[in-house]
Amino acid sequence: MPEQEAQDLFFPSDEVKAYATVKEYDKTYAQSIKDPLSFWAEQAEKLEWYQKWDKVLDDSDKPFFKWYAGGKINIIHNAIDRHLKTPIRNKIALIWEGENGESKVFSYHALNREVTAFANILKSMGVRKGDIVTIYMPQIPEQIFAMLACAKIGAAHSVVYGGFSAEALQERINDAHSRVLVTADGGYRRGKPTGLKQIVNEAVESCSTLEVVITVKRTGEVVYMENDRDYWFHDLRALPIANTPCPTEVMDANDMLFLLYTSGSTGKPKGIVHKHGGYSVYTSTTHSMVFDLKPEDRYWCAADPGWITGHSYIVYGPLINGATLFLYEGAPNHPYPDRWWRMIDKYGINILYTSPTAIRGLMRYGESWVNRHNISSLRLLGSVGEPINPEAWKWYYNVVGKGKAPIMDTWWQTETGGHVITPLPITPLKPGSATKPFFGVEVGVVDDQGNDVAPGEQGNLVIKTPWPGMACCIHQDRQRFYESYWKKYEQQGWYHAGDAAKVDNDGYFWIIGRSDDVIKVSGYRLGTAEIESAVVSHPAVTEAAAIALPHELKGNAIYVYAILRTGFTPSHELEKEIKDHVAKMMGPIAKPEQISFTEILPKTRSGKIMRRVLKARAQGLPEGDISTLEE
Ligand code: PRX
Repeated sequence: MPEQEAQDLFFPSDEVKAYATVKEYDKTYAQSIKDPLSFWAEQAEKLEWYQKWDKVLDDSDKPFFKWYAGGKINIIHNAIDRHLKTPIRNKIALIWEGENGESKVFSYHALNREVTAFANILKSMGVRKGDIVTIYMPQIPEQIFAMLACAKIGAAHSVVYGGFSAEALQERINDAHSRVLVTADGGYRRGKPTGLKQIVNEAVESCSTLEVVITVKRTGEVVYMENDRDYWFHDLRALPIANTPCPTEVMDANDMLFLLYTSGSTGKPKGIVHKHGGYSVYTSTTHSMVFDLKPEDRYWCAADPGWITGHSYIVYGPLINGATLFLYEGAPNHPYPDRWWRMIDKYGINILYTSPTAIRGLMRYGESWVNRHNISSLRLLGSVGEPINPEAWKWYYNVVGKGKAPIMDTWWQTETGGHVITPLPITPLKPGSATKPFFGVEVGVVDDQGNDVAPGEQGNLVIKTPWPGMACCIHQDRQRFYESYWKKYEQQGWYHAGDAAKVDNDGYFWIIGRSDDVIKVSGYRLGTAEIESAVVSHPAVTEAAAIALPHELKGNAIYVYAILRTGFTPSHELEKEIKDHVAKMMGPIAKPEQISFTEILPKTRSGKIMRRVLKARAQGLPEGDISTLEE
């Protein structure tokens, strides 16, 4: 939080203030904190429930909170069914553009038709309420239909990002015990098909629970299909059963909606669980208030539906709010660096929500690419996933938003389900600050004992009160859920976010970055433990440590220190081989920037690698307290 930047204030224009639905923050926030349960009951009333809740919050089994206990709901009833009874039925729900220029448009009526067909197909394959279906797809409409279809019939989805490797996919299928997998032959990325089905074929070899793979044809590449396991989606879609009605399953508010794997500081990825009730309320409320959604808006969240941002702010929040959303399949710079600006112009997008990495990536091509197109429809911008550096913020604000579209820098996590610290359109902005907490949530920056740190000082970010979007647990691991988030501030009952942050004199929050062994690369979340285990699975390596170092474009890049087994000698070829090995094991996003071969790693006397020391050394910074360092 450089002094000068902390004072750089951008006030909302009169136009923004006049247009904004939420006109005031301080009083509403104070009221929402004084009586959060009334605030969250009021928001929940905006949805349709099959049966109203008995209790807004059941906290009898902390930290496994139950929101809207006793309520009956299905997120699909709110995201689709109820809209069909209103003029939203004929409104555009989804505009999709493929990287190859193909495009498709679905009204809410058509969305219902496609989701119903998909739901019938899943049912015909034996999927039942409570099952977990894994989805591994490119950014095509069927990815969204598959997610919604699962929710409709009460099955949970586990979406695995299409950039993950066969190993990562297989690990997630096995952890979820999925019987059914939905995939595609591939998608397009930078003009080339990405061979998803080949990766699936490799992964499912070692997935004992998996019986059915449904493949959507996207690229038309020749792929291997196994009898009695593999089905083409279009064959199933043509069956009469697909076109019959399918009731939306009545769910308990606390039934699982989805499972989403994310990286933690130790061990294998955690399956974060979200539920129908609280998640519906939280995503729709934050989406409508933070982005000041208007019925006529065209809204684009340029994330992948396969990440939490996509789940909450491409799929569920926007559809519950009856929004028109846009989905794009491919790379931002294909075939030219103006692809995004061209599409914003073409479709008249009003709200753009993306990551600092994407902004930095497009910024490097210069503003002339932006200025070729009329993007004056943009009214509001959003940022998520990592701290946005003031330079990228100002470019986004001035060049993309033409100085009139405020930037909602939203801080949140897979675990929080939705925005926790975020501006509203009326909030005066400071570039690089996520500003203030959302209504109904109390947030703090504290030391290890739980005392508030002084303004401007670094501390641990905590959430002090429960909120409806909070994850309810880690799939089949209650203990890990408690240990990961609740143990550190058990006495106070606070959620420990794992981020380092500061608060300034105006009460604005500044997120510094992860304080645990999690690395954010281009906004993607990776665990050092996972990277290290991928490195040591290479036959030449005996021990490894992974750290994050600042990177101009990616925010952070992965640097690895590796000790070789006897008989192996350091070389550029070996470095390349190990890098490729990690990319193969985890996916290209995890490919290390550099591997340095070393004889020894700094460790504590109890044998824990001191990554902090490696990081300081690599940057030529003071190493801090090294009294626990082994010889
Ligand atoms: O470090 C914070 C960073 O992303 C982490 C959560 O990652 P994930 O679960 O993958 O969810 C990303 C999308 C919500 C956080 O612990 N982060 C997220 N948003 C911001 C951020 N850091 C700074 N500013 C943000 N706006």
